[in-house]
Amino acid sequence: MRKAIVTGGKRLKGDVVISGSKNAALPILAATALLNGEINLHNVPHLNDVITMLRMLRSLGLRAEYHDPNIVKICTNHTVKHVAPYELVTKMRASFFIIGPILARMGLAKIPLPGGCAIGSRPVELHIKGLKALGATVEMEHGFVIVKAGKLKGAKIYLDFPSVGATETLMMAATLAEGETIIENAAQEPEVLDLANFLNKCGARISGVGDDTIVINGVSRLKGTEYTVIPDRIEAGTIMVAAAMTKGDVRLRKVLPEHVESTIGKLREGGVQVDVQDGDIRVKAPSRFKGLDLKTRPYPGFPTDMQPQMVALLSISEGVSIMTENIFENRFMHIHELRRMGAEIKLEDRSAIITGVNRLSGAPVRATDLRAGAALILAGLVADGETVVDDMERFIDRGYERLVSKLSKLGARIVEVGGNGESNI
Ligand code: EPZ
Repeated sequence: MRKAIVTGGKRLKGDVVISGSKNAALPILAATALLNGEINLHNVPHLNDVITMLRMLRSLGLRAEYHDPNIVKICTNHTVKHVAPYELVTKMRASFFIIGPILARMGLAKIPLPGGCAIGSRPVELHIKGLKALGATVEMEHGFVIVKAGKLKGAKIYLDFPSVGATETLMMAATLAEGETIIENAAQEPEVLDLANFLNKCGARISGVGDDTIVINGVSRLKGTEYTVIPDRIEAGTIMVAAAMTKGDVRLRKVLPEHVESTIGKLREGGVQVDVQDGDIRVKAPSRFKGLDLKTRPYPGFPTDMQPQMVALLSISEGVSIMTENIFENRFMHIHELRRMGAEIKLEDRSAIITGVNRLSGAPVRATDLRAGAALILAGLVADGETVVDDMERFIDRGYERLVSKLSKLGARIVEVGGNGESNI
């Protein structure tokens, strides 16, 4: 297994280019199953999760491969299969998003029910309820969700929770449905907007995205296109927090500042200097961060995917801070590992009460999910001595493109050892 070995004490300094967004690329790749023709997707991060999605698309009969490290070429001129392989969906829940496109295109889809993961049970009943509203019948058999529909028909759908995945699945399915679909209480994350922009470029008719009500007018077919994926706002936030923790001076390039407003606001509240200059973001943190209270919320609120990283920052800040996780029911696993490094954190229901300490001490720790792994690496950057973060392939490499190399170029003492992660295409 590949490990990251981090030796604390270095301030991060310099420029870093942010990669394309994992959580925009994955649904866009799933959406290619709706299309007829060639797609060239640019600024796609080179990640294990993307490799898994490409395998999924190839298993369905599409031609899908990295053309170079950050360009993916897809060709879908013939019909696609309607059954998704069990091991790929259970390996990466985002593969489940394929259910909408396959059902809309083929009138039938047989997709494994995605498992839960470390951060929660991750049900998909909102996806299923929406597909039923569009006219699909749904059965469960041997761990598969089997959905059938002659032709999907537009409907008015209210999401009990602004689920990102459910919004994306239903938006994709509705692009080929007959008539108008309205999704109310829809997710407003930038990745949902990126998916809609991609689909509209392919000939879909989607409006209202970025608001809480999305309107989709069905069309008969969608064609291939060229498209560039937005930058990864969570990678950007992660690097910004790393700069704040190490009292560094880092400039982020190829980022969309409007997508990280909540993180910028919270870093400024804690005393970090954040300047937005010509689309770049410069983070300077001369002094110790002042503790603060934070609640995760759907976009544009503070993102749950930044919660573990912020907990690592708050664990070495002044005073007592409270972090409340409102999105996932079990997203505090990193706290048990941070405690091994000397963090003083108490858990009460959905809140972590964090008493800032002067120093963390390096220790062997284990990542439990993608963002928890990132938080542990950030903690290692400021801890006394060596921190060894295990299981890099299963977590960090899944969702961060060359994170170790980027941090190392900013001056961090960090190396990767062992393992032979899934870096092959
Ligand atoms: C997306 O997951 C992201 N993943 C997650 O990022 C992100 O944390 C999450 O949105 C919230 O922003 C991708 O885009 C690939 P949800 P998704 O449906 O779509 C509950 C990362 O680290 N829910 O908005 O699965 C669910 O259990 C990952 O990059 C239902 O109850 O998130 C959760 O508590 C982690 N029923 C909440 O809603 C449903 O049918 C938010 O889930 C669907 C969701």
